[in-house]
Amino acid sequence: MKPSASKTTVWGTRLGFYLAAVGSAFGLGNLWRFPYVVAENGGGAFVLLYLMLAFLIGTPFLVAELSLGKISRSSILSAMLKLSGDRYQVRALEDPDFNMPKWMRAFLPYIGKVALLLTLSVLAYYAVISGWVLHFLIQLVLSSAKGELVNPESSLQFLLTNGWLQFTLTAVHLTGVAFIVAKDLEQGIEKWLGYSVPLFGMLVVILAYRSISLDQSQAALRFLFYPDFSKLKASSLGQALGHVMFTLSVGFGVMVTFGSYLRERASLPIAGFRVTTLDCLISLGAGIMIFPLVIYGGFQDAGPSLLFHAVPKLLAQIPGGQLFGIGFFLCLYLASVGASIGLLETVVANLRETRRVKRSFAAWAAAGLALLIAIWPALSTNVLSSLRFNGHGLLELWDAALINWFLPVVALLISQVVAWVLSAELKKAEFTEEQASSGELLYRHWIFLLRYLAPPIVLLALGLQLVGLLHH
Ligand code: PHE
Repeated sequence: MKPSASKTTVWGTRLGFYLAAVGSAFGLGNLWRFPYVVAENGGGAFVLLYLMLAFLIGTPFLVAELSLGKISRSSILSAMLKLSGDRYQVRALEDPDFNMPKWMRAFLPYIGKVALLLTLSVLAYYAVISGWVLHFLIQLVLSSAKGELVNPESSLQFLLTNGWLQFTLTAVHLTGVAFIVAKDLEQGIEKWLGYSVPLFGMLVVILAYRSISLDQSQAALRFLFYPDFSKLKASSLGQALGHVMFTLSVGFGVMVTFGSYLRERASLPIAGFRVTTLDCLISLGAGIMIFPLVIYGGFQDAGPSLLFHAVPKLLAQIPGGQLFGIGFFLCLYLASVGASIGLLETVVANLRETRRVKRSFAAWAAAGLALLIAIWPALSTNVLSSLRFNGHGLLELWDAALINWFLPVVALLISQVVAWVLSAELKKAEFTEEQASSGELLYRHWIFLLRYLAPPIVLLALGLQLVGLLHH
């Protein structure tokens, strides 16, 4: 028996769910983070690793989180509380064949709490980068209105050396997102993403096409797709894994919350597979768009500002580039709003389920907290620029610590709870609704990947990263 539905919010349409899941998956991770991580890890071999991990580990984890949300009808923290049997006695969720030791029961709620902390910390620095996008958008609009051209390099320098400007833009972004989330989910997310996601897909294709006709495109495609395994570093496996989870929004509890809003009839394996495929395609499109310019510009400093160096260069080469630029940064901004909504909504849903606070209060409080955390990354390229480690600034370190270390651990823990503790009968039902026999086979593969393939890979990745760190 399933626990009774305590949720009132349910996706209006199936498309609404896809848009929200894709809207959350698709964002700065694809366009801003993917290219610079690929550049730092030597290209093709890393891309191959990333694609393999996306389907072998990313998709099963994504399906695991959606299942946990859908089956328990709750967000990560209350799902863990329910499973621990601590606060709510919902034994039906627990697998009767799994004898949960006492310590594990006591440990489960901490997984939920740590995931929430991670979500909030990522929201904070995500908002800083969203602020960068906003800066370029405003610059392009203002200079178009005046009939001038933007000087991208000085515009970027101005931004990076001006910490309080970054902080203000971060605040503007968080205010907008809090406003949408405070109002309500369905009206908020579905309407927005319905327009921005397809539009953006189109723009990326057009820009990638334009970029491919540059002279440097052959070298760029070779860099991006020709796997030279000697270029991989000890930390590459961990970086690929971390990025897979980041870009699919897995390991935060975001997809658990989204799953909890799903209606009965929705096939989770198909949803997970579609979201992963679309997300990978967009990242590859972004790579094709950006690398010819990276090679053209001969950028030495690949770091987090790579996208912001490369795109204005491309725009300067196209007739009507300024207008394209406005379209591009507008869509990129909308995508980062979509992803930020997913992050904030998750914190809000968790707070509301466990603390009985009002939606609007939870939204504003969480956004305020994120803003406080954002002070560090926002000031990292200027006031705090002397704080560096191995040539990396604070923002980059923050990003690496959260995504390459913290995230894989939390994602693994969540996946193992789903793999071992959650009722097998309820899980299987999510796979066998429509086609019993192929569903059953798929289910067995899924459980195998979660139980026996993911843990050694994640542990190996973390171990290799540690080796890489010690060798520095
Ligand atoms: N997946 C998003 C991106 O690629 C980032 C994100 C992570 C959004 C976690 C929501 C939750 O930009």
